Amino acid sequence: TRNGIEFAVADLEAAEFGRKEIRLAEHEMPGLMALRREYAEVYPLRGARVSGSLHMTVQTAVLIETLVALGAEVRWASCNIFSTQDHAAAAVVVGPHGTTEEPKGVPVFAWKGESLEEYWWCTERMLTWDGEGPNMILDDGGDATMLVHKGTEYEKSGVVPTPDENTSDEFKVFLELLRDSVAADKDKWTKIGQGIRGVTEETTTGVLRLYQLAAAGELLFPAINVNDAVTKSKFDNRYGIRHSLIDGINRGTDVLIGGKVAVVCGYGDVGKGAAESLRGQGARVIVTEIDPICALQAAMDGYQVRTLENALPEADIVITTTGNKDVVLVEHMAKMKHQAILGNIGHFDNELDMAGLARYPGIRRVNIKPQVDEWVFPNGNTIIVLSEGRLLNLGNATGHPSFVMSNSFSNQVIAQVELFTKYEEYDKEVFRLPKKLDEKVAKIHLDALGGELTKLTKEQAEYIDVDVEGPFKPEHYRY
Ligand code: NAI
Repeated sequence: TRNGIEFAVADLEAAEFGRKEIRLAEHEMPGLMALRREYAEVYPLRGARVSGSLHMTVQTAVLIETLVALGAEVRWASCNIFSTQDHAAAAVVVGPHGTTEEPKGVPVFAWKGESLEEYWWCTERMLTWDGEGPNMILDDGGDATMLVHKGTEYEKSGVVPTPDENTSDEFKVFLELLRDSVAADKDKWTKIGQGIRGVTEETTTGVLRLYQLAAAGELLFPAINVNDAVTKSKFDNRYGIRHSLIDGINRGTDVLIGGKVAVVCGYGDVGKGAAESLRGQGARVIVTEIDPICALQAAMDGYQVRTLENALPEADIVITTTGNKDVVLVEHMAKMKHQAILGNIGHFDNELDMAGLARYPGIRRVNIKPQVDEWVFPNGNTIIVLSEGRLLNLGNATGHPSFVMSNSFSNQVIAQVELFTKYEEYDKEVFRLPKKLDEKVAKIHLDALGGELTKLTKEQAEYIDVDVEGPFKPEHYRY
């Protein structure tokens, strides 16, 4: 704690560098800056206490400071052990008007390279406020939401489950934290859960968890699915990945991508961006899919569609983008070409069988540099694994660039304002933002790029049965 601000970051002295990059990012984030202008005198988030769990990057710093500009109090942690940019974390703590001696910003608990214990400690600190608890959660992947839900569940039953051999390392650490917490305070998470007006969720994987909770009737508060705003998933998941996937591979390995064979597992929004990004560098791309529609899309886009087993003998690079588990098993890894590169860009590391790899008889791990490991099989073949199987665009590089995140985060801010101010109108279900707001976010960013939008005449609007001012498409339209 310094100047009344609690924080745990790598190096507060990095704040000046962080502030310079935040300043440059602000210009590239016209959506967030427009929201600051729109709400300059209104402070719609006055009284909001936002606990945020989302990659602590430069772009996220602009999001945090937008929430503050709209009147919120904020505490933050990263949603991944490798994704924090330490200078951004420091700058957010210091704040635009503070100094390292007298920080005036926001409590942040995040640094690059946390252990799992540290990760869950940070998440817990981010949700633990002095006095009254948080009343809003901003989540990416659903870990903060899970902590509040599982904490409430275990406090109610009085039992925290004992891990067995099937429990992942990550979940073991999570259960340990909750065991200590429930022993110390029997209704900490119950109280926090009761105080929350709603959660706004950033990504596909977190949204899936929310729909599962809602279907089971277990959701403790309403949720807005930010991911499925068109200006989020059809932009960040696709064009963001198109930029940051090869950035991660290049910074991690510097291997020439042109001429190589790259396998992309999954051809959803992220997979489409990943395949395009690798093809753009001159790789021959092979796609694996389980859904015939996405598989056919890949074929029509000119990619070969194969099973992983049949693609592996040729593959120089294998990237998972599925949000599913066990996509590349250790048996697959053992059959990869010498020095093939393996990475995941989906939300959790269980897409790759990292546990199986570590247990493989006779395997040896050679750390090349942070977030790059060479795994040596007993026959001498090696594979290069990026970010220990965690999302490599944030582990090996700096994630998506500002302009695309401005789209995603504008939706986040709009969703926070909506749920904070109108929570009584929402049931404990998962909602999406109205299309009109999606179109508004797109318009701001189109304007910033100098795009010229054609205006409908009244007659044309009547002919296609829409309003001159939009929304321009029916709900079922897929873009
Ligand atoms: P999506 O649902 O659009 O695409 C996933 C695709 O994987 C689907 O088409 C599905 O049929 C396919 N799939 C599922 N299991 C498979 C298997 N065993 N083999 C081959 N294909 C399989 O989801 P989206 O939006 O593309 O997100 C994917 C993941 O990426 C999620 O975990 C999401 O949270 C994460 N994400 C990561 C970002 C990053 O910056 N690294 C940014 C945005 C999303």
